[in-house]
This record gives sequence, C-alpha cells and structure tokens, in this order.
Amino acid sequence: MPAARVLEPEWLDELPHTDARAVRSRRDLVRVNALMGNTRIVAGELARLGPVRAVAEIGSGDGAFLRSVMRRLGNPVVEMHLVDRQPVGTITADVFDWLADASGPPLDAIVANLFLHHFDDEALRRMLSLVARRARAFIACEPRRSQAGLIGARLLGLVGCGEVTLHDAVVSVRAGFGDGELTALWPALPGWRCEERARGRFSHGFVARIDG
Ligand SMILES: C[S@@+](CC[C@H](N)C(=O)[O-])C[C@H]1O[C@@H](n2cnc3c(N)ncnc32)[C@H](O)[C@@H]1O
Repeated sequence: MPAARVLEPEWLDELPHTDARAVRSRRDLVRVNALMGNTRIVAGELARLGPVRAVAEIGSGDGAFLRSVMRRLGNPVVEMHLVDRQPVGTITADVFDWLADASGPPLDAIVANLFLHHFDDEALRRMLSLVARRARAFIACEPRRSQAGLIGARLLGLVGCGEVTLHDAVVSVRAGFGDGELTALWPALPGWRCEERARGRFSHGFVARIDG
C-alpha cells in the first residue's frame, strides 16, 4: 500500500452517464456502500448533529446514497440537495462552482461519500474552505488507504460488481485517506472541531462541525 495518496482517473467519471457500464456501476455503488457500512456511518453522524432541515451531498451520483441514509434515519422531513457534475442528481454542477455560489441555499450539513478521494490536496484544501462557508457541519466517508481496503476492493467481483466498479474501487483505495490527512486540509477557522478516524473495515470518516 503506497505511503502517500496516488491519484488516477476513475472510469465512472469519464463514461457518459447513459453508458450501460456507468449505469451498472452506479447500481454497484449501492452494494459497495452497504458492504463498507457507509450508510450506517453517515446516518449515525447526521443523527449526532440533532435536527437538520437542509442537507447537501456533493458528488452525490443519482442520490441513492443520501436517500438510503435518510431512510435509515426514518425519513425525516429534510430538504436534500444532490450535487453532481453528471446529470444524475438534482443539481448538475461542478462541486467548486456550486459551493462558491453565495446565493446557494442555507445548509445545516454537507455530506461527501466516496467523493473527496478524487481530488488532490490542493483542490481539497480549496473545497473544504468553501464547505466551511456553506454549512455548520461536514461529514465525509471515504475509502481508507489500507491493505484491507485493497483486498476488499479486489474481491468486489465476487459480489457481482462490474468491471468499472472493480477498476475504480482499487484506484479509490490508493487515493484514499489515512489518519489526520483531511484534518490537515481543513481551514483554520475559529469554532470548528474535526474528528477523523478509520471506520468499519474499509472506510475513513471525517467530521467537522461548529461547536455548540
Ligand atoms: C464514486 S461516485 C460516488 C457517488 C455517491 N456519492 C455514492 O456514494 O454512491 C463519485 C461521483 O462524483 C461525481 N463527481 C466527480 N467529480 C465531480 C465534480 N468536480 N463535481 C461534482 N461531481 C463530481 C461523479 O460524477 C460521481 O457521480
């Protein structure tokens, strides 16, 4: 396992959203998220925030992930903003453009799942400083850069995942995160508290929120 993050293109990002392999891979992601326990992890962190009225997921894909999180929380009445640069969510936009738009909706929380690892540290630093201006809490669940993650990614064919998911899963683990790496990129703003640690067998969790 590389000591440092290695970024390589992911096929799902490059295929047209209507391509059968992309459609299959988005379906596979539901299974991958279930196996990683990401729905449970993000739902637990959202519940810890107390009542929320508006939540956005950046890099949301078709929104299946955030909808499964909300189902787990008993479908509370929450305004959901699903932001993806492919026309599969509710808002088609590049994440940086959407976050930088000061006329955007007020948000209690922003969620990112299997998304941050697409970006290098410089882009992440910029993204996280925009995130901190738009919401009072940020919850991210990403691949953990670990040997266990790499083995898990290579075994996804056994649970029926297709070639795009198999390729992207290995690439994602190599671009994933280790202890303290996202905290180091979070902006130094007063009042924010960060928590970052391995979650489950394969995931890496990061939560930043304003105290109180
Ligand atoms: C691995 S998928 C994860 C989808 C979803 N979060 C989930 O867990 O099922 C990553 C998503 O990020 C989107 N994406 C990649 N770069 C982006 C960008 N710059 N702005 C917005 N979305 C982006 C891709 O289109 C893709 O749908």
